[in-house]
Amino acid sequence: MIVTVASNRREVGKSTLAVNAVAIRALAGRSVCLIDIDPRKSSYEWSLKRQRSHIQPNIPACAIAGKYLKDTFHKVSSRYNDILIDTDWRDSMGSRTALEVADIAIVPIALGVESLTCLKQMTKRLKAARANNPGLWSIVVLVRAKGAPPAAEFEAIRRHVGNETAMALAETVIREDQSLQIAFDEGLAVFEDKQANPESIVEMYDLYARKEEKHHVALAFPTSKAPPKKRELRLVASA
Ligand SMILES: Nc1ncnc2c1ncn2[C@@H]1O[C@H](COP(=O)(O)OP(=O)(O)OP(=O)(O)O)[C@@H](O)[C@H]1O
Ligand SMILES: [Mg+2]
Repeated sequence: MIVTVASNRREVGKSTLAVNAVAIRALAGRSVCLIDIDPRKSSYEWSLKRQRSHIQPNIPACAIAGKYLKDTFHKVSSRYNDILIDTDWRDSMGSRTALEVADIAIVPIALGVESLTCLKQMTKRLKAARANNPGLWSIVVLVRAKGAPPAAEFEAIRRHVGNETAMALAETVIREDQSLQIAFDEGLAVFEDKQANPESIVEMYDLYARKEEKHHVALAFPTSKAPPKKRELRLVASA
């Protein structure tokens, strides 16, 4: 499974979602690789911290310029069960390639001003990627929530997602919480940090790992390359 985390906003939580996803897959016993194509290299740094502190499981990672992604990807893709690609915010050659090789795009959208505008802009990028990668499935994840998402904003996003092909809205909303930053800074996933806010741990776990619940997207992490049927993944938030 190739998962790319992409968003057109800075500091929205792309790297945070990427490292938590790769960690949960590694803890599930999958062989994983983290590829960071953001020049800021924050998720690569996260993996180095992990290595230096001998945190297990070790997560192989590399930082490369986006223009080399295609070559690197072809070299490593058959060696791992899961590859997580962390991108920068721009519509760069690298982030385009990252969407074109992915099975799933995780699209964090920060709640608040301009969330819908942001999602619409990302939708254009995702559609462009789907022209070359028709199997791409996108999961929109609302992040940095300070309380329950405002109903009107949530409804507008839900409606937009509902009208798009191969796009789903994750039921789990990730709250604004310092625990995520503290864990990240120590090379940990939030659920590996014993001091972390349990609510944030549950959210991350719900987002990525819990599969048994009805209607839960669990980021699908499907085993086949074919995108799941829209109906199975359409998530309807409780009113
Ligand atoms: N839900 C959250 N609550 C609180 N802090 C968060 C949350 N998500 C991310 N952060 C913090 O916000 C900062 C930016 O997060 P992150 O690096 O994951 O975003 P990004 O979109 O990858 O940023 P960049 O555009 O720099 O690559 C980091 O300090 C991170 O720890
Ligand atoms: Mg980042």
